[in-house]
This record gives sequence, structure tokens and C-alpha cells, in this order.
Amino acid sequence: MMVTDNKKRTSRADTSLKAEHEYICGNSGTGKSSYIKEIMKGYKRIIAFDPDDEYGTMPGFTRIETARELVAKLKAAGSGNFKIAFVGEGKAAFEFWCECVFKVGLCLAIAEEIADVTSPAKAPPAWGKLIRRGRKFGVKICAVTQRPAEADKTILSNAAFIRTFALGRFSDRQAISREIQLSINVMEKMRPLDWIHFARADLTKTAGRLGQRRAAIPINDNGESLQKGPAKDTIMKA
Ligand SMILES: Nc1ncnc2c1ncn2[C@@H]1O[C@H](COP(=O)(O)OP(=O)(O)O)[C@@H](O)[C@H]1O
Ligand SMILES: [Mg+2]
Repeated sequence: MMVTDNKKRTSRADTSLKAEHEYICGNSGTGKSSYIKEIMKGYKRIIAFDPDDEYGTMPGFTRIETARELVAKLKAAGSGNFKIAFVGEGKAAFEFWCECVFKVGLCLAIAEEIADVTSPAKAPPAWGKLIRRGRKFGVKICAVTQRPAEADKTILSNAAFIRTFALGRFSDRQAISREIQLSINVMEKMRPLDWIHFARADLTKTAGRLGQRRAAIPINDNGESLQKGPAKDTIMKA
């Protein structure tokens, strides 16, 4: 566990934060992709595992379907910039993608719907290696899922940041509630676009809503605002 370091937690612009893994979960349509688009703004080398074919048409992205093309594209990119959407499906394709990310290093690696290619039991080997050692090579993983209860736990426990949007299933809320020490009742009150963000370095939680102007609000384990003043009520309104 890292010791609290005020310099480190100030902003995402701080380059020292850039290779810290992030876990993003929520039902379909709750705001995960909108959040990831914000993260992507800070990176020039991006590679997505994109089974649902969502990134290929984004500005600057090359859509790639085969392992051979992926290797060729990364070799051509060398130490330069790239934005790649690998439209792979299944566990073998995912493991291959993990190997490629590990080799290329220094990038933002977005893994979409990890519950389809991992299980809670044990991380697939290349994925496990990427999680544990990727950071040293400047790889920031963004692992995305609608089903935290059904997905790999290695990334959940190794993520420096966990951002949860609304989750429809009890088992999924339970998994996140336990990991970030947040009352499950608070999670039940979340609606699409609401989010709660956990920073492992200092165990803080903040809450907000996409598209909302006001700053994120620090909250306690019961979802109550830690801000001074009258706003003592819970953040997520029933
Ligand atoms: N800032 C925002 N304000 C209002 N609506 C938004 C905002 N961000 C996203 N949405 C809407 O919320 C829906 C879900 O967003 P999306 O990020 O695609 O969710 P997910 O990736 O979790 O399925 C989309 O219809 C999108 O238009
Ligand atoms: Mg999405």
C-alpha cells in the first residue's frame, strides 16, 4: 500500500500518475465510454482491445482485425504515436493483445469488457503479467466491465483508481462495495451518469455526475459529503 502523498493525488495532468491502472465499471449506458474519452485526451499512444468494435471510427484510430496486422502496425509505429482499435474476440485474441501491449510499452491500454475474456479465478497469464509489470514500462491499463463479479480480480485489486458507474446486479455492487469500502446502499441509489471514484493511494472517494459542472465531492463510506457546510445529505438522491 502506498503512503499518502499529496503531490501525487492533485491532478490527472501529473505525469507521475500516468501509468497507474484504472478499473472502470457500470451497466451499459451509464457513462463508461464518455469517461474513457476524457482519459484518452492525455495520451498519444493508445491501444484498445475492442470486441464490440467501438473505437475504430474515433478520430485518429486505426481499426485492426488480425494478429498479423496488429504486429505490423506496432512495428511500424516503433517509438512513435499510435491509436489502435484491435477488434479481437475471445480469450486467445485477448492474450495476444496483452503480449503486444507488454512488448510495445509506454501507452494507454484499454481493455473493454474483461468479463468476457477473464474470470474471477485467476488472471490469464499475459494479462497478469501486463497488470503486474506493465506499469514499470509505462503502461496504464484501463480495464472496463459491466460485470465486476464475473471478471478478473487481479486488476480490481491492482487498480490505483476504481471508477464505478451504476451497477444493476447485487453481486456486482457487492464486489465493488467491498473493494472500495462503500456502503452498498449508496451504490443502489446511483443512476446512469452518476459516478464514484476511489483512489487507492489515500483511500479517498469522490462522487460526481457526468455533464455536471460542479466539482467532484469527497464522500465517506456512507456516501455522505465530507465538504464543510450545509451539504451533509447523501450524494446520490433516492
Ligand atoms: N456528459 C453527459 N451528459 C449527458 N449525457 C451523457 C453525457 N455523457 C454521456 N452521456 C450519455 O449517456 C449515455 C451512455 O454513455 P456511454 O459513455 O456510452 O456509456 P457506457 O460506455 O457505459 O455504455 C449515452 O447515451 C451518452 O450520450
Ligand atoms: Mg461503452
